[in-house]
Amino acid sequence: MDDLATAAALPDAEDIRAYLAAQSGKTLLRFLTCGSVDDGKSTLIGRLLYDTKLIFEDQLAALESDSRKHGTVGTDIDFALLVDGLEAEREQGITIDVAYRFFATDKRKFIVADTPGHEQYTRNMATGASTADLAIVLVDARAGVLRQTRRHSIIAAMLGIRNIVLAVNKIDLVDYAEDVFEQIVEDYRGFAADLGFQSIVPIPMSARFGDNVTGRSDRMPWYKGPVLLSHLETVEVERDAAARPLRFPVQYVSRPNLDFRGFAGTVAAGRVAAGDEVVVAKSGKRSRVARIVTQDGDLEEAVEGQAVTLVLEDEIEVSRGNMLVAPDARPHVADQFAANVVWFDEHAMIPGRSYILRTEVDQTSATVSELKYRVNVNNFAHEAAKSLELNEVGVCNLSLQAPIAFDRFADDRTTGGFILIDRLTNATVGAGMILHPLRRAENIHWQALDVDKGSRAALKHQKPVVLWFTGLSGSGKSTIANLLEKKLHVAGRHTYLLDGDNVRHGLNRDLGFTEEDRVENIRRVAEVARLMADAGLMVFVSFISPFRAERRMARDLMGEGEFVEIFVDTPFEECARRDPKGLYARALKGEIKNFTGVDSPYEPPEAAEVHLETLNRTPEEMVEAIEAWLREQGYC
Ligand code: ADX
Repeated sequence: MDDLATAAALPDAEDIRAYLAAQSGKTLLRFLTCGSVDDGKSTLIGRLLYDTKLIFEDQLAALESDSRKHGTVGTDIDFALLVDGLEAEREQGITIDVAYRFFATDKRKFIVADTPGHEQYTRNMATGASTADLAIVLVDARAGVLRQTRRHSIIAAMLGIRNIVLAVNKIDLVDYAEDVFEQIVEDYRGFAADLGFQSIVPIPMSARFGDNVTGRSDRMPWYKGPVLLSHLETVEVERDAAARPLRFPVQYVSRPNLDFRGFAGTVAAGRVAAGDEVVVAKSGKRSRVARIVTQDGDLEEAVEGQAVTLVLEDEIEVSRGNMLVAPDARPHVADQFAANVVWFDEHAMIPGRSYILRTEVDQTSATVSELKYRVNVNNFAHEAAKSLELNEVGVCNLSLQAPIAFDRFADDRTTGGFILIDRLTNATVGAGMILHPLRRAENIHWQALDVDKGSRAALKHQKPVVLWFTGLSGSGKSTIANLLEKKLHVAGRHTYLLDGDNVRHGLNRDLGFTEEDRVENIRRVAEVARLMADAGLMVFVSFISPFRAERRMARDLMGEGEFVEIFVDTPFEECARRDPKGLYARALKGEIKNFTGVDSPYEPPEAAEVHLETLNRTPEEMVEAIEAWLREQGYC
């Protein structure tokens, strides 16, 4: 997953490449450490690096001086400092971003992601896990299996990790007691039985003192299993992306001159050779690979991970967001699918709200059409839920604005994963793993109609438009919209007014005023407004529509220039003073819950086409202001 990987950019990429090249021939194991804060993850990695003598001289010098400055273990070297890269983290005493480390032994080379354990940072944990083969789940021997241990294990399982090391750390603090270890192992195995792990290897250890990390400890003669490093050196992980069918996401079309047209990208899975037949995922068009071009000359073949430009034999249309794939194993192309979703954001995931969905291949708007259930991380119970809160995990159906090409996550971790991005803040708010396309999406197709929006509008001699009035209850939206409709109607326009209070008596009578219900309320009315605009009407929508995200979604639904946001800006005090329905008085007494402006937010528009400040102005003046704007813009 592009963003997940770049969110924690690798340090000194060139050095690392050179180093890895020198190590080529050895197999690579990617792993991550996870667990609760203070379980000792950074200390463990520091210990591994130190004991394998892979700390570079300058890092060592810095470590010694840093330990004196920031260390939390007295005069010993603080191994956590070796790994916690960021100054800010040191000052806070927690790890806040993913740090990747590289090391090698005679037998294998390793990339380790050190991920933070703070409750808020599930996101970073998922970042590290998205490419890992194995997870070391650290547990403090004194605390045992905690909520965070379970949560991280579930995320690791969802992200496709099949091998677990259960590191029962700080065993020195429980006097190297076998029964403590055995109890923790039993608890963990009981919990993880349904997670589908291939191997769970429990190891009692003290990262701080090095017991059972790289060398066998003589303080636990009862322990007969492997020590950590030798297990990491020998564990077999299934990861043969090159053996999978070809997946080549097109990043851009390279067209330096009229004679050359190539498709640039990185092979996400499989291999491709000159002469191979390939298929364009979305269109099904076929061609053959004429050349595989790189900066260092043409290649005969490219495999997973290689960045190349493919030149095809035929002039076929492929653009960014599409894939070239193996003809006999094509990906799914659909605009609806079911997925596991992990939510990272403080602001809950709400069905019906629009997010940006980004895969390794493509990007489009998406909404969760249904939250099927939330997974209880303690007992895996499927719980009914209306939203996913921070750090929660659930199974959802998603509906996309346009079809994308993808695989099931179980078949391909690269093309089967996605992230969700908040449209307004641009923050990554969730990650998902595709389970399967929805059958219904495959069976429903757009029907081409001969009478279209243009011909319907032409008959009415008007330009379809949605005038979207937003503002507090009692701000005057309906009064103004009603007056404007009357004038346009008299002038021979074909109009319709959708009013919140009225629509809530019929189509939306099942909805209340929670955030979830308001999101759905606006989603439905936006869809209805779109149909009416399609019918060629001038549509007036008068809903509080308190959230920017849904107004944005409504805007995106309509054609270019067909959405006009009108902010009816009346201060809360004035609305409460007018109180036409007596609702403010009741809300302020606490008799009505979730009342906009009282205990439910209103997010004012930032760039409404028309901003009406209503204080001391009459509705007639407002209507004139809108009419003037509409005339100026050529709507009437
Ligand atoms: S919206 O927030 O989902 O867009 P909508 O415009 O449909 O709201 O409905 C708002 C109308 O419902 C208000 O004008 C008011 O008459 C009524 N109402 C009842 N309860 C509430 C409430 N808790 N918050 C806001 N309006 C409410």
